[in-house]
Amino acid sequence: MKSDKSPARKKYCHSCLTQAAECGSQAYPCPFRLDSQRVPITGGGTGLGLAMARCMVDAGASVILTRRRDTVLRQTVASLGPQAGCARHDVTRLKQSPTLIAKVQKKLGPVTILVNNAGVHLKKPAVETTEEELLQVLSIHVLGTHALSRDFTTGYNSQKGRVSMKPTDILSQEHRVIEQVLNCLERIAQRCRDDGALDAQAARDALEFFRNFADCCHHGKEESHFFPAMEAKGFSRESGPTGVMLREHELGRGYVRQMNDALHDASHDPGAKDHFVNNAVSYIGLLREHIRKEDHCLFPMADRAFSEAEQNQLLETFRHVESEMPDPGAHERYLRLADYLAERCGVHRSTSTPSSGPCGCGHSDAGK
Ligand SMILES: [Fe+2]
Repeated sequence: MKSDKSPARKKYCHSCLTQAAECGSQAYPCPFRLDSQRVPITGGGTGLGLAMARCMVDAGASVILTRRRDTVLRQTVASLGPQAGCARHDVTRLKQSPTLIAKVQKKLGPVTILVNNAGVHLKKPAVETTEEELLQVLSIHVLGTHALSRDFTTGYNSQKGRVSMKPTDILSQEHRVIEQVLNCLERIAQRCRDDGALDAQAARDALEFFRNFADCCHHGKEESHFFPAMEAKGFSRESGPTGVMLREHELGRGYVRQMNDALHDASHDPGAKDHFVNNAVSYIGLLREHIRKEDHCLFPMADRAFSEAEQNQLLETFRHVESEMPDPGAHERYLRLADYLAERCGVHRSTSTPSSGPCGCGHSDAGK
């Protein structure tokens, strides 16, 4: 049963990413997606296997249903549409499992998810079950599952090293570092509000991070390369998601300026600390929500919109910008600054940092 205290999930407009209530158009909660996933489903012609296939196709995956006889399968697959195919396969013929993986790969590309769904149910008491019947169950449920899982994993691992990172992976990793420093700023503001003590040095460091890493590097990368690429794919700046993101970037810059001014005035103006805290709270709220929209709505849209070649081209652009940085060590220094602040403010460090990813920020101002 749902607790009354659980926070209501915000819904965003499909096209512009403003909150549904503000936009007034049809909204949807961030959907579970399986775009670009390639999935063989054993025993997928009926029952659970077919139900899973239908859900996966609805979520954007391509599926191959397998069965010992594929005559029935063909009609089933036709009802699922062009993202579904079929292959004849008997899971008890263990040596054939690499052939199935190869077949799926030939039709769809490298397998990314395996569903071991094939199974039997004897539907009779154990005392009436023969050894042959039990061996048949074990052969399907245990040996067949093991053989396919093993051959799938071997193929997957050999592909893994060749799968390139997407531009949105780099931007998402940077979000984790920005969130880490937002947590630090929240701790600084909380202490200031609760006992009036403002850690001015930590606050200055956090603002420097937001100006150079979050804004110049990360938002700069989005504004100069990522958003224009999305707009070239038909996402309107005027009425679409990139316009909303750009306005939020500008709003964030205003909060950072206000915090910076308050920090300068804190030594002689008694109201400056409150001004700092109020702007910090607004900035933290804005950026957390902004990041959530990008991670869960905008980036999945971009992943679906860009072809592999376009993704690689964007990555190349990121690398090119990074190579033109006057101070190529600055990115790493801001990552270290984020960790220094986490330690100083007593907050958890992000487990995912873009320590080896391209930066593309072009800032020369070094952090700690
Ligand atoms: Fe972002």
